[in-house]
Amino acid sequence: MNRPGYSLTAQLGALFAIVAVIVFSAVGFYLYRALAVQLQERDEAELVERVLQVRHLLAETPDAGSIQREPHRFLDAVDVSHGFFLVIQTPGGQVLAQNTAERGFTFPGGAVAADATPSTRDTRHTVAADGGALQELTAMGRVGSSGDVVRISVARTAHERQEVLRAYRLKVWIAAIAGAMLTAATGYLLAHRGLARVRALAAQAQEVTAHNLDKRLDADAAPAELRLLADSFNRVLDRLQNSFNKLSQFADDLAHDLRTPLNNLMVQTEVVFSQPRDIEEYQNLLSSNHEEFGRLARMVESMLFLARADHDQVALSTERLSAAEELGTVAEYFEGLASDAGVSLKIEASGEVWADAHLLRRAVSNLVANAVRYTPPGCAIVLAAAGSGAGTAISVTNSGPGIDPLHLPRVFDRYYRSDQSRSSQSSSAGLGLAIVKSIVALHGGHASVTSELNGTTRFALFFPGPAM
Ligand SMILES: Nc1ncnc2c1ncn2[C@@H]1O[C@H](COP(=O)(O)OP(=O)(O)OP(=O)(O)O)[C@@H](O)[C@H]1O
Ligand SMILES: [Mg+2]
Repeated sequence: MNRPGYSLTAQLGALFAIVAVIVFSAVGFYLYRALAVQLQERDEAELVERVLQVRHLLAETPDAGSIQREPHRFLDAVDVSHGFFLVIQTPGGQVLAQNTAERGFTFPGGAVAADATPSTRDTRHTVAADGGALQELTAMGRVGSSGDVVRISVARTAHERQEVLRAYRLKVWIAAIAGAMLTAATGYLLAHRGLARVRALAAQAQEVTAHNLDKRLDADAAPAELRLLADSFNRVLDRLQNSFNKLSQFADDLAHDLRTPLNNLMVQTEVVFSQPRDIEEYQNLLSSNHEEFGRLARMVESMLFLARADHDQVALSTERLSAAEELGTVAEYFEGLASDAGVSLKIEASGEVWADAHLLRRAVSNLVANAVRYTPPGCAIVLAAAGSGAGTAISVTNSGPGIDPLHLPRVFDRYYRSDQSRSSQSSSAGLGLAIVKSIVALHGGHASVTSELNGTTRFALFFPGPAM
């Protein structure tokens, strides 16, 4: 019944019709059977009554000969017009009175004794001479005080009963068909009405486009069964809107961030080209351009990395690593830069960390690069690692200007830089911490930050241990 493409309303209408036909037919059949049984019982009771009536008349009759002389007294007692047949015979088979001369019928089996009272159970089925079905009762009867015994046979055609039943059967069929059609039509209309709210929801959903992603379905007005669907749809829209906004923001930022270095390249190249230069000036231009290209390449690489991480396309080769060794490698790499900035790097690490070596170094490097930039000369940057049962926490702590608590929740966002001076010549793209967050997330861990203005800033990365 749930084949695709079939109208739910039509299916419900058809179901209603089938159920109605079954119910009406079952009820009709039951009533028909009950009526048939009742009519049969009525016929049997009437046969018994007629036999008793004839016996009563016989009691008032002097002898068997009187029956033959006045048959109408008896024949009138059974109402021929209602299809009753009567035959009174001597035990020898001589007919004394009968109203069935032209039709006749057979008498199967014996007769109820003259002293016994006949009951409906003594009635039998038989056939008339013309083949019609009959219900028949035969009993002996005593004639007055003469001591004569006669045989009374009363029968009734089933014709009238069958007529009643046939008419009834027809009515049942008509009622079943009419009822089914009526129920199907009502079912269809009700389903159509009930589904109006589904159509309303669909119309609301159709209004949602890329330009009005803030539109939501009216879940409260939806029927209870559809509220879940409407809520889920709204949540999908929430997520879509969120992603869509991020994507738009990403495209804006991307355009903005690429425009500045590209403009720089254009402008400085045009300036150099504006008049003839000597070799050294061209060399300077190329080297400056080379630096700018390097920045662009790094930026594009970072974006690509984030895009791949978003789509789980970064292959992880996790292994057990010595935390102190890994932090040492990063510190060694930053030694030159740190000493230029007049800051020192300290390692306080023990234990192991379960991570991809390359990505772990990349994450810690991004933190150390930031720290070196913001730590005032003479201060130290601490690279620490501490293991617990669940995993290892790696942190990079430095003192410096700190991050405004207002900005703190957003530092891990892409392109987020607390100075916000996008047009600045600074080489930062605001992707470093976003990459850190992605790397930790790829490992199933999480990154956090605490910072005080003009105090200590601490970034902590938690790497979970190997899954059991
Ligand atoms: N140790 C720190 N002390 C103070 N501010 C910090 C520190 N680390 C990060 N920040 C702030 O967080 C911002 C985001 O850092 P993030 O590393 O994501 O970007 P970036 O360093 O500006 O650029 P990129 O790392 O892509 O070159 C920084 O611009 C800076 O304002
Ligand atoms: Mg950075």
